[in-house]
Amino acid sequence: SGQLNDLAVKAGLKYFGTALGEGVINSDSQYAAILNDKSMFGQLVPENGMKWDATEPSRGQFSYSSGDITANTAKKNGQGLRCHALVWYSQLPSWVSSGSWTRESLTSVIATHMNNVMGHYKGQCYAWDVINEAINDDGQSWRDSVFLRTFGTDYFPLSFNLAKKADPDTKLYYNDYNLEYNQAKTDRAVELVKIVQNAGAPIDGVGFQAHLIVGSTPGRSQLATTLKRFTALGVEVAYTELDIRHSSLPPSSSALVTQGNDFANVVGSCIDTPNCVGVTVWGFTDKHSWIPNTFPGEGDAMLYDSSYNKKPAWTSVSSVL
Ligand code: XIL
Repeated sequence: SGQLNDLAVKAGLKYFGTALGEGVINSDSQYAAILNDKSMFGQLVPENGMKWDATEPSRGQFSYSSGDITANTAKKNGQGLRCHALVWYSQLPSWVSSGSWTRESLTSVIATHMNNVMGHYKGQCYAWDVINEAINDDGQSWRDSVFLRTFGTDYFPLSFNLAKKADPDTKLYYNDYNLEYNQAKTDRAVELVKIVQNAGAPIDGVGFQAHLIVGSTPGRSQLATTLKRFTALGVEVAYTELDIRHSSLPPSSSALVTQGNDFANVVGSCIDTPNCVGVTVWGFTDKHSWIPNTFPGEGDAMLYDSSYNKKPAWTSVSSVL
Protein backbone atom coordinates (compact mmCIF):
# COMPACT_ATOMS: atom_id res chain seq x y z
CA SER A 1 0.00 0.00 0.00
CA GLY A 2 2.99 2.28 -0.27
CA GLN A 3 3.51 2.45 3.49
CA LEU A 4 6.98 1.88 4.85
CA ASN A 5 6.73 -1.68 6.19
CA ASP A 6 5.17 -2.94 2.98
CA LEU A 7 7.91 -1.24 0.98
CA ALA A 8 10.65 -2.53 3.31
CA VAL A 9 9.44 -6.11 2.97
CA LYS A 10 9.36 -5.79 -0.83
CA ALA A 11 12.92 -4.44 -0.66
CA GLY A 12 14.06 -7.57 1.18
CA LEU A 13 13.97 -6.50 4.83
CA LYS A 14 12.02 -8.45 7.42
CA TYR A 15 10.33 -5.36 8.84
CA PHE A 16 10.15 -1.61 9.30
CA GLY A 17 9.14 -0.98 12.90
CA THR A 18 8.70 1.57 15.66
CA ALA A 19 8.96 1.95 19.41
CA LEU A 20 5.62 2.26 21.15
CA GLY A 21 5.27 5.00 23.77
CA GLU A 22 3.28 3.42 26.57
CA GLY A 23 2.06 6.79 27.82
CA VAL A 24 0.85 7.90 24.40
CA ILE A 25 -0.94 5.04 22.69
CA ASN A 26 -4.17 5.33 24.71
CA SER A 27 -4.34 9.12 24.77
CA ASP A 28 -3.61 10.16 21.17
CA SER A 29 -5.85 8.64 18.52
CA GLN A 30 -3.81 9.97 15.58
CA TYR A 31 -0.71 8.35 17.05
CA ALA A 32 -2.59 5.09 17.54
CA ALA A 33 -3.95 5.08 13.99
CA ILE A 34 -0.48 5.25 12.43
CA LEU A 35 1.09 2.83 14.89
CA ASN A 36 -1.68 0.24 14.44
CA ASP A 37 -1.23 0.19 10.65
CA LYS A 38 0.75 -2.93 9.88
CA SER A 39 1.54 -1.72 6.36
CA MET A 40 3.40 1.16 8.02
CA PHE A 41 5.00 -0.64 11.00
CA GLY A 42 5.54 -4.40 10.82
CA GLN A 43 7.17 -4.67 14.22
CA LEU A 44 6.88 -2.91 17.60
CA VAL A 45 9.26 -2.52 20.53
CA PRO A 46 8.26 -1.13 23.94
CA GLU A 47 9.89 2.23 24.61
CA ASN A 48 10.08 1.52 28.36
CA GLY A 49 7.73 -1.26 29.40
CA MET A 50 10.08 -4.27 29.35
CA LYS A 51 13.01 -2.63 31.13
CA TRP A 52 14.12 -3.96 34.51
CA ASP A 53 12.63 -1.06 36.52
CA ALA A 54 9.27 -1.71 34.85
CA THR A 55 9.27 -5.50 35.04
CA GLU A 56 10.91 -6.24 38.41
CA PRO A 57 10.85 -3.02 40.46
CA SER A 58 11.51 -4.94 43.64
CA ARG A 59 13.13 -8.30 43.97
CA GLY A 60 10.87 -11.12 42.87
CA GLN A 61 7.91 -8.78 42.21
CA PHE A 62 7.19 -8.98 38.51
CA SER A 63 4.94 -6.61 36.62
CA TYR A 64 3.98 -6.94 32.98
CA SER A 65 1.27 -4.31 32.70
CA SER A 66 3.44 -1.85 30.78
CA GLY A 67 5.28 -4.39 28.62
CA ASP A 68 2.02 -6.08 27.74
CA ILE A 69 0.72 -2.87 26.14
CA THR A 70 3.21 -3.34 23.31
CA ALA A 71 3.01 -7.13 23.19
CA ASN A 72 -0.80 -7.07 23.06
CA THR A 73 -0.91 -4.27 20.50
CA ALA A 74 1.46 -6.19 18.23
CA LYS A 75 -0.57 -9.36 18.63
CA LYS A 76 -3.86 -7.58 17.89
CA ASN A 77 -2.41 -5.94 14.77
CA GLY A 78 -0.48 -8.95 13.50
CA GLN A 79 2.79 -7.08 13.94
CA GLY A 80 6.11 -8.55 15.09
CA LEU A 81 7.73 -7.70 18.41
CA ARG A 82 11.27 -6.82 19.48
CA CYS A 83 11.92 -7.07 23.18
CA HIS A 84 14.10 -4.59 25.08
CA ALA A 85 16.18 -4.76 27.33
CA LEU A 86 17.57 -7.20 29.95
CA VAL A 87 21.06 -6.41 31.27
CA TRP A 88 21.53 -2.62 31.27
CA TYR A 89 23.05 -0.17 33.73
CA SER A 90 20.18 2.30 33.22
CA GLN A 91 16.53 2.05 34.26
CA LEU A 92 17.85 -0.58 36.61
CA PRO A 93 16.19 -0.56 40.04
CA SER A 94 18.43 0.39 42.93
CA TRP A 95 17.89 -2.97 44.63
CA VAL A 96 20.05 -4.35 41.78
CA SER A 97 22.45 -1.47 41.15
CA SER A 98 23.15 -0.82 44.85
CA GLY A 99 23.03 -4.36 46.13
CA SER A 100 26.18 -6.01 47.36
CA TRP A 101 26.52 -9.11 45.30
CA THR A 102 28.79 -12.06 44.86
CA ARG A 103 29.10 -13.66 41.43
CA GLU A 104 26.84 -16.40 42.64
CA SER A 105 24.10 -14.18 44.03
CA LEU A 106 24.06 -11.78 41.08
CA THR A 107 24.00 -14.71 38.66
CA SER A 108 20.90 -15.94 40.42
CA VAL A 109 19.29 -12.48 40.25
CA ILE A 110 19.92 -12.23 36.49
CA ALA A 111 18.71 -15.77 35.89
CA THR A 112 15.51 -15.20 37.87
CA HIS A 113 14.87 -11.94 36.02
CA MET A 114 15.37 -13.55 32.61
CA ASN A 115 13.44 -16.71 33.42
CA ASN A 116 10.44 -14.66 34.47
CA VAL A 117 10.46 -11.85 31.93
CA MET A 118 11.62 -13.87 28.92
CA GLY A 119 9.32 -16.65 30.08
CA HIS A 120 6.34 -14.29 30.14
CA TYR A 121 6.99 -13.17 26.54
CA LYS A 122 8.16 -16.56 25.24
CA GLY A 123 7.11 -17.21 21.68
CA GLN A 124 6.38 -13.53 21.02
CA CYS A 125 9.78 -11.83 20.74
CA TYR A 126 11.56 -11.93 17.40
CA ALA A 127 14.65 -10.82 19.34
CA TRP A 128 15.69 -9.70 22.82
CA ASP A 129 18.29 -7.07 23.62
CA VAL A 130 20.21 -9.17 26.13
CA ILE A 131 22.88 -6.57 26.91
CA ASN A 132 22.39 -2.87 26.24
CA GLU A 133 25.09 -0.16 26.20
CA ALA A 134 28.05 -1.92 27.82
CA ILE A 135 30.69 0.31 26.23
CA ASN A 136 31.86 3.77 27.29
CA ASP A 137 31.34 6.60 24.83
CA ASP A 138 35.04 7.04 24.09
CA GLY A 139 35.25 3.35 23.20
CA GLN A 140 38.30 2.92 25.37
CA SER A 141 36.77 0.89 28.15
CA TRP A 142 33.74 -1.07 29.33
CA ARG A 143 30.98 0.95 30.92
CA ASP A 144 30.86 0.87 34.70
CA SER A 145 27.92 -1.05 36.16
CA VAL A 146 27.14 -3.46 38.96
CA PHE A 147 27.51 -6.17 36.32
CA LEU A 148 31.02 -5.12 35.28
CA ARG A 149 32.11 -4.61 38.90
CA THR A 150 30.88 -8.07 39.90
CA PHE A 151 31.95 -10.16 36.90
CA GLY A 152 34.33 -8.15 34.75
CA THR A 153 33.66 -9.01 31.12
CA ASP A 154 32.49 -12.48 32.15
CA TYR A 155 29.01 -10.98 32.36
CA PHE A 156 28.92 -10.83 28.57
CA PRO A 157 28.91 -14.59 27.92
CA LEU A 158 27.12 -15.24 31.21
CA SER A 159 24.17 -13.05 30.19
CA PHE A 160 23.85 -14.65 26.75
CA ASN A 161 24.06 -18.17 28.22
CA LEU A 162 21.35 -17.42 30.78
CA ALA A 163 19.16 -15.79 28.12
CA LYS A 164 19.45 -18.86 25.89
CA LYS A 165 18.23 -21.04 28.75
CA ALA A 166 15.32 -18.70 29.47
CA ASP A 167 14.13 -18.57 25.85
CA PRO A 168 15.96 -20.82 23.37
CA ASP A 169 13.95 -19.60 20.37
CA THR A 170 14.40 -15.82 20.36
CA LYS A 171 17.35 -14.04 18.78
CA LEU A 172 19.83 -12.74 21.32
CA TYR A 173 21.24 -9.27 20.62
CA TYR A 174 23.88 -6.89 21.85
CA ASN A 175 22.54 -3.31 21.39
CA ASP A 176 24.35 0.05 21.55
CA TYR A 177 24.55 3.57 20.11
CA ASN A 178 27.28 5.41 18.19
CA LEU A 179 28.44 2.17 16.59
CA GLU A 180 27.53 3.81 13.25
CA TYR A 181 30.70 5.93 13.11
CA ASN A 182 33.10 2.99 12.82
CA GLN A 183 35.48 4.35 15.42
CA ALA A 184 36.81 3.09 18.75
CA LYS A 185 33.36 2.28 20.15
CA THR A 186 32.66 0.09 17.12
CA ASP A 187 35.98 -1.72 17.61
CA ARG A 188 34.94 -2.43 21.21
CA ALA A 189 31.61 -3.82 20.10
CA VAL A 190 33.41 -6.18 17.70
CA GLU A 191 35.56 -7.22 20.67
CA LEU A 192 32.45 -7.82 22.79
CA VAL A 193 30.96 -10.13 20.15
CA LYS A 194 34.24 -12.03 19.99
CA ILE A 195 34.42 -12.35 23.79
CA VAL A 196 30.95 -13.92 23.78
CA GLN A 197 31.72 -16.20 20.85
CA ASN A 198 35.13 -17.27 22.17
CA ALA A 199 33.49 -18.25 25.46
CA GLY A 200 31.19 -20.53 23.48
CA ALA A 201 28.07 -18.50 24.31
CA PRO A 202 25.28 -17.79 21.80
CA ILE A 203 24.88 -14.35 20.21
CA ASP A 204 22.65 -13.85 17.18
CA GLY A 205 22.64 -10.15 16.49
CA VAL A 206 23.98 -6.67 17.03
CA GLY A 207 21.58 -3.74 17.24
CA PHE A 208 22.68 -0.35 16.00
CA GLN A 209 20.56 2.13 17.92
CA ALA A 210 21.30 4.92 15.42
CA HIS A 211 20.45 7.98 17.49
CA LEU A 212 22.01 10.23 14.86
CA ILE A 213 22.39 13.92 14.05
CA VAL A 214 21.31 15.70 10.86
CA GLY A 215 24.36 16.50 8.77
CA SER A 216 26.68 14.25 10.80
CA THR A 217 25.26 10.92 9.71
CA PRO A 218 27.76 8.72 7.83
CA GLY A 219 27.06 7.99 4.17
CA ARG A 220 25.33 4.89 2.87
CA SER A 221 28.41 2.91 1.86
CA GLN A 222 30.30 3.83 5.01
CA LEU A 223 27.35 2.64 7.09
CA ALA A 224 27.15 -0.61 5.12
CA THR A 225 30.88 -1.19 5.60
CA THR A 226 30.37 -0.85 9.34
CA LEU A 227 27.39 -3.21 9.42
CA LYS A 228 29.42 -5.78 7.49
CA ARG A 229 32.14 -5.82 10.17
CA PHE A 230 29.52 -7.55 12.32
CA THR A 231 27.83 -9.77 9.77
CA ALA A 232 31.34 -11.04 8.96
CA LEU A 233 31.38 -12.44 12.50
CA GLY A 234 28.28 -14.50 11.72
CA VAL A 235 25.68 -12.36 13.50
CA GLU A 236 22.79 -10.45 11.96
CA VAL A 237 22.43 -6.71 12.38
CA ALA A 238 19.52 -4.26 12.59
CA TYR A 239 18.90 -0.59 13.18
CA THR A 240 16.99 -0.72 16.43
CA GLU A 241 16.25 2.85 17.62
CA LEU A 242 16.64 5.13 14.62
CA ASP A 243 16.10 8.86 14.99
CA ILE A 244 18.02 11.74 13.40
CA ARG A 245 17.80 14.97 15.33
CA HIS A 246 18.38 18.55 14.32
CA SER A 247 20.96 20.10 16.61
CA SER A 248 19.26 23.47 16.35
CA LEU A 249 15.58 24.26 16.06
CA PRO A 250 13.55 25.03 14.12
CA PRO A 251 15.14 23.28 11.13
CA SER A 252 15.47 25.17 7.84
CA SER A 253 13.89 23.65 4.76
CA SER A 254 17.34 22.60 3.55
CA ALA A 255 18.01 20.93 6.93
CA LEU A 256 14.81 18.93 6.42
CA VAL A 257 16.13 17.74 3.06
CA THR A 258 19.45 16.78 4.66
CA GLN A 259 17.54 14.88 7.33
CA GLY A 260 15.77 12.98 4.58
CA ASN A 261 19.03 12.09 2.89
CA ASP A 262 20.46 10.91 6.21
CA PHE A 263 17.43 8.70 6.87
CA ALA A 264 17.66 7.30 3.34
CA ASN A 265 21.35 6.51 3.80
CA VAL A 266 20.67 4.59 7.01
CA VAL A 267 17.81 2.57 5.52
CA GLY A 268 19.74 2.09 2.26
CA SER A 269 22.75 0.71 4.11
CA CYS A 270 20.55 -1.97 5.64
CA ILE A 271 19.26 -2.93 2.20
CA ASP A 272 22.87 -3.10 0.99
CA THR A 273 23.88 -5.49 3.77
CA PRO A 274 22.90 -9.15 3.59
CA ASN A 275 21.78 -10.11 7.13
CA CYS A 276 20.67 -6.61 8.01
CA VAL A 277 17.17 -7.68 8.95
CA GLY A 278 15.26 -4.46 9.54
CA VAL A 279 14.91 -0.91 10.73
CA THR A 280 13.09 0.30 13.84
CA VAL A 281 12.49 4.00 14.49
CA TRP A 282 12.45 5.20 18.10
CA GLY A 283 9.09 6.89 17.74
CA PHE A 284 7.64 8.44 14.60
CA THR A 285 6.23 11.87 15.39
CA ASP A 286 7.90 15.05 16.61
CA LYS A 287 4.90 15.41 18.92
CA HIS A 288 6.17 12.58 21.11
CA SER A 289 9.90 11.97 21.27
CA TRP A 290 12.46 11.30 23.98
CA ILE A 291 15.00 13.58 22.26
CA PRO A 292 14.13 17.05 23.67
CA ASN A 293 14.19 15.69 27.23
CA THR A 294 17.61 14.14 26.81
CA PHE A 295 19.16 16.64 24.39
CA PRO A 296 17.69 20.04 25.34
CA GLY A 297 17.34 22.38 22.38
CA GLU A 298 17.59 19.55 19.85
CA GLY A 299 14.85 17.52 18.22
CA ASP A 300 12.44 17.15 15.31
CA ALA A 301 14.14 13.79 14.80
CA MET A 302 11.17 11.85 13.45
CA LEU A 303 9.45 10.96 10.16
CA TYR A 304 6.20 12.86 10.92
CA ASP A 305 5.97 16.39 12.27
CA SER A 306 4.05 17.24 15.42
CA SER A 307 0.81 17.55 13.41
CA TYR A 308 1.30 14.11 11.83
CA ASN A 309 2.27 15.45 8.42
CA LYS A 310 4.81 13.30 6.59
CA LYS A 311 8.15 15.13 6.51
CA PRO A 312 10.65 15.08 3.63
CA ALA A 313 12.38 12.26 5.54
CA TRP A 314 9.29 10.06 5.15
CA THR A 315 9.37 10.51 1.38
CA SER A 316 13.14 9.95 1.23
CA VAL A 317 12.80 6.67 3.12
CA SER A 318 9.95 5.54 0.88
CA SER A 319 12.03 6.28 -2.24
CA VAL A 320 15.02 4.28 -1.07
CA LEU A 321 12.85 1.23 -0.35
C1 XIL B 1 14.68 6.03 26.41
C2 XIL B 1 13.18 6.29 26.33
O1 XIL B 1 12.86 6.69 25.02
C3 XIL B 1 12.77 7.34 27.33
O2 XIL B 1 11.34 7.44 27.39
C4 XIL B 1 13.30 7.00 28.72
O3 XIL B 1 13.02 8.06 29.61
C5 XIL B 1 14.80 6.76 28.67
O4 XIL B 1 15.08 5.74 27.73
N1 XIL B 1 18.84 3.89 24.42
C6 XIL B 1 17.96 2.88 24.70
C7 XIL B 1 16.54 3.21 24.99
O5 XIL B 1 18.31 1.70 24.63
O6 XIL B 1 15.95 2.32 25.90
C8 XIL B 1 16.39 4.63 25.47
O7 XIL B 1 15.00 4.92 25.60
C9 XIL B 1 17.07 5.59 24.51
C10 XIL B 1 18.54 5.30 24.43
